[in-house]
Amino acid sequence: MCGIIGYIGEKRVSGILMNGLKRMEYRGYDSAGLSIIENDRIKTIKKKGKVSELENLVDHSAVSATIGIAHTRWATHGFPNDINAHPHHDNSNSISIVHNGIIENYSSLKTKLKSDGYTFYSDTDTEVLAVFIGSIYEKVKDLESAVRLALREVDGTFGLLVLSTHEPEKIIAARRGSPLLLGVGNNEYLIASDAAAVIQYTKQVIYFNDNEICTISKDGYHIKTIDNEEAAPIIEEIEFDLEHIEKGGFDHFMLKEIFEQPETIFDAFRGRLLIDEGDVKLGGLRTIMESLRDANRIIITACGTSYHSGLVGEYMIESLAGIPVEVEYASEFRYRNPIIGKNDVVFSISQSGETADTLAAVKEAKKKGATVMGIVNVVGSSIARETHGGIYIHAGPEIGVASTKAFTSQITVLSLIALMLGRMKKLSKYEGQLIAKELINIPEKIKQILELTDEIKIIANKYSNARNFLYLGRGYNFPVALEGALKLKEISYIHAEGYPAAEMKHGPIALIDENMPVVVIATKDEIYEKVFSNIEEVRARKGKVITIANIGDEKIRDVSDHVIYIPETIPLLTPLLTVVPLQLLSYYIALNLNCDIDKPRNLAKSVTVE
Ligand code: M6R
Repeated sequence: MCGIIGYIGEKRVSGILMNGLKRMEYRGYDSAGLSIIENDRIKTIKKKGKVSELENLVDHSAVSATIGIAHTRWATHGFPNDINAHPHHDNSNSISIVHNGIIENYSSLKTKLKSDGYTFYSDTDTEVLAVFIGSIYEKVKDLESAVRLALREVDGTFGLLVLSTHEPEKIIAARRGSPLLLGVGNNEYLIASDAAAVIQYTKQVIYFNDNEICTISKDGYHIKTIDNEEAAPIIEEIEFDLEHIEKGGFDHFMLKEIFEQPETIFDAFRGRLLIDEGDVKLGGLRTIMESLRDANRIIITACGTSYHSGLVGEYMIESLAGIPVEVEYASEFRYRNPIIGKNDVVFSISQSGETADTLAAVKEAKKKGATVMGIVNVVGSSIARETHGGIYIHAGPEIGVASTKAFTSQITVLSLIALMLGRMKKLSKYEGQLIAKELINIPEKIKQILELTDEIKIIANKYSNARNFLYLGRGYNFPVALEGALKLKEISYIHAEGYPAAEMKHGPIALIDENMPVVVIATKDEIYEKVFSNIEEVRARKGKVITIANIGDEKIRDVSDHVIYIPETIPLLTPLLTVVPLQLLSYYIALNLNCDIDKPRNLAKSVTVE
């Protein structure tokens, strides 16, 4: 949600902090701020708006400090304004903190602190924590102890950095439920919520565990638990390079990530497909092969785009392996006291690995005794660490807030799981080989679709002023219709709904008139004729039909205003192809509307609050 960064070393800190904020801005972009220590005083600058607004206020030439903390915010408590922006101070202005997460008991803490005479200026839970730490420091006169004692009283989540003139050569960092890592450089340390913010300086990182607190000085670091026990940190290497988090000549990260899909899909199946055996090897599931074979049911929990890929997975696993699958919004799963049987296996899908709802669902399923596996992109993320095992999708950093390449990589991994389970159950070697061979062809077919950009731009130009869109698909392509609608909503702010094509006549058909563009996925499969009839129903009500069809399908032209022709594949893998033109259509509509494509309003890349 928010992004935090701290630096301690020998270099001037302001440039490093601003650089880190820019790299993490996709995590939150309604305000930003920083604190440094200079001439024995804390200097804080903060501003509503994007990181560029803060940058305008920072005179790097006037800053010689080599220690500081900074924050880019996605508001949870209090409006996005200058006062609510982080960092926040204690009442003596000698402690400054940045915080990612939510202090759930802030209200009772604030009441108590007010009755003790402390004052508050903002509406944030973070200021309460700053003042609370300050109040404890007055008694214990030791910064780490003050932070530790405060955090023991706190309910909720935090990735936290604390800077203080009391101990001006230290940063205290702590984590519970919000991502935080320590970058270990040469005579310098960076602490950040995101590897993207530190990779320019070091690839050596320590991912903090929940309830760990770390004191960092120029000379080293010391990690303990909040209960004051020694921790055993492991230094790991960041898997990606700087170029992966830069735009590389594209106007937006979203477009770059759409165009990366031939490679990212390849990376998702690379080394995992056993073509000759028509089978799959997934090391991350090794320990639960028996549970999977004997599973009565598979439950998939996820949010947003990851939920849509879960729905594709449901169709895939049920069709190839005959195991019943239920897909649940992670945000609902936890609160409806889900029934999880002894032989159920839970998969949680998350690009970021930090989505609070999904993480809570993982914990709930574990509490109920389930085996829980992750399908995650970000290495070392909370969900990757909290699950019993799982599979990384290897899509590389996804910076555009609208998820694109993660969706297709998730589907690729789900197809591998379905194939593996199928081969354990009823699928013949021959059938397995056919699927495996076709999966290998998918990257090349996506390259062909990416060549249709000019055609898609023309359609986007025509419909950019529409106020509503419908997306229709059936079978494997129903979740793709949902995903197409979500992409358009997120980045262009046009209202869009996805439906199973046949459901349209049960209600949404009332919306159709000559102003309604209807995007229909009508690839050749066993329900093609039915979808064709659904298109006729739209036409009869003067709706404008944009069809995604297979190359060679001339008949579909007669009932469509526009056809985007894509290569054919087996029905199981069609979502990997059909979603690509929908991603491009959303992108070019949002571009026409001058929307901030990589940072759509009100959204954040990873939603770390419930
Ligand atoms: O990181 P996750 O996959 O757990 O995120 C889940 C959703 O928040 C995410 O997919 C969201 O819907 C995206 N903005 C979709 O483009």
